[in-house]
Amino acid sequence: MESANNNENDSADHRREEMIIGIAADHGGFELKVQLMAALTFAGYLVKDFGAHELIADDDYPDYVVPLARSVSRGEITRGLAICGSGVGACVTANKVPGVRAALISDTFSAHQGVEDDDMNVMCLGGRVTGSAIAWELVQAFMNADFKANERFTRRLAKVAALEMGLE
Ligand code: RB5
Repeated sequence: MESANNNENDSADHRREEMIIGIAADHGGFELKVQLMAALTFAGYLVKDFGAHELIADDDYPDYVVPLARSVSRGEITRGLAICGSGVGACVTANKVPGVRAALISDTFSAHQGVEDDDMNVMCLGGRVTGSAIAWELVQAFMNADFKANERFTRRLAKVAALEMGLE
């Protein structure tokens, strides 16, 4: 039993070491970004910070979310976290970048099912809506989930990709 647990721990450690997590936030999400970066780093993830690197009261979420989303799209980042006050602006912005499948998440079911069924690669959070403890649970559910690649899921995503390419 002990060795099975050790194997599970080894595999979870390995998974974390292989992931690069990108994170971006405007002033509305800045505090939550700081908290999540600390939790991710403590948990063993490699985190790339796309800013804001300091609290700027009147900054604009696209300035941070677009570079994050492009990096996800290019495959440089395994998964992205985009945060603004409500999470809405970050989500709207991230989804404008081809190859990004972003969603505003506030429940753990959607945090993992969005990956399993829809291959969500950017999770958006509202820094003024979601507290840090639940946000951390959402992040863990997002990071621990894998796309299932069943025929019906890949079929649906092919339709989304065709729409993105202007073929639909
Ligand atoms: C804060 O200025 C707010 O507008 C922004 O962070 C975000 O909530 C937009 O969706």
